[in-house]
Amino acid sequence: MKQFDRDRLLTMQKDSIDLLLTHQHPSGSFVAGPHFSQYMYCWLRDSAYIAYSLLLAHETESTERYISWAAQILEKNEEKIKRLAILILQNSPLEDRDLLGARFSLEGEDDQTDWPNYQPDGYGSFLWLVTQYLEATNRQTIPLEWEKAVSLTVQYIVLVWKLPSSDCWEEFPDKHHVSTLACLAGGLRAIAPYLEREEKETACTTETAIRTYILAHAEKEGYFPKFIGSSFVDSSLVWLSTPYHVFESKHPFMEKTIDLIEAGLLHKGGTQRYTEDTYYGGGLWLPLSGFLGWHYVETDRLEEAENLLGWIVAQGDHLGHLPEQVTTFTNNNSMISPWEERWGAIACPLLWSHAMFLILHFKILQYNSKGEKKYEKENVPR
Ligand code: BGC
Repeated sequence: MKQFDRDRLLTMQKDSIDLLLTHQHPSGSFVAGPHFSQYMYCWLRDSAYIAYSLLLAHETESTERYISWAAQILEKNEEKIKRLAILILQNSPLEDRDLLGARFSLEGEDDQTDWPNYQPDGYGSFLWLVTQYLEATNRQTIPLEWEKAVSLTVQYIVLVWKLPSSDCWEEFPDKHHVSTLACLAGGLRAIAPYLEREEKETACTTETAIRTYILAHAEKEGYFPKFIGSSFVDSSLVWLSTPYHVFESKHPFMEKTIDLIEAGLLHKGGTQRYTEDTYYGGGLWLPLSGFLGWHYVETDRLEEAENLLGWIVAQGDHLGHLPEQVTTFTNNNSMISPWEERWGAIACPLLWSHAMFLILHFKILQYNSKGEKKYEKENVPR
């Protein structure tokens, strides 16, 4: 590995694990940002990666507790999912409250505020997380207590994948977001081998339909757009390949998408969300830099992965806390203070940033210890 300040790296690893464990609520949920008023919820998206990072850190019990928490939410919403199926069948107009939320109170209650909450990506990520847990614990079958939740999640994704939604940033509520579709297809693809016949077939058919839909709506120039009908990219498009393997990294559209992310969104060592972003100015996001670094590990670009890891570590404050984003490069500096006035300083620590630091660090360590091409198995060619 490159010459990092090793002590700093190891301290941050230990402190990050402690931080994530400390902020796991007794219910099993994880708060997104413990000191940021708007982030006192548990997002299924953030938490899938938080729980995965703890799995890599061998904190398996913590991951289990989180999955059980999310499973309870799914079960609690069984009636809502059944009702949704009827509404869709009847072609009835849908409201946000007919759909499942992206975030919940730490006790698992619905968020009743009017902040856009219909962003289904986290349900795909949940399925993927379950499969990562099964692999890590050498289980061939889904534990009985999670079976129903998994099945409900599959049903839910089958129902909603064609509906417009907000993206993973709570924005553009009436679009079809490609990185959201990546999570949904990726979750189905990961869970399918663990399902029984009919359900497995449904999962596989839907995954194929989503992939076909994404391909059919790719840009003529050969890349995947942020949402269907847009021409610009978003760094979250990395999810199409890492970790969800909906398209292999060598797929020409995937390669071009990564090229565009690098050309337009990678600045001063970190990654922006998208070029129009003005949230706190539209700075460099630590979670996304972690995903890009992880993608570099999977594509044998180790030096660039290490550079991103080094950049993330360097963003730690005097306590080693990692923020959501930094404003050393922004799209619009004049938009920093309006957000500060509205919601206070940028969220720090953000648990998702710590999780992505841990994941990237562990992936680099695994790559170095197991040798190159470790990820070929997961990269099933399409
Ligand atoms: C982001 C979401 C994230 C949430 C909590 C929001 O600002 O848009 O992607 O899940 O913060 O971290």
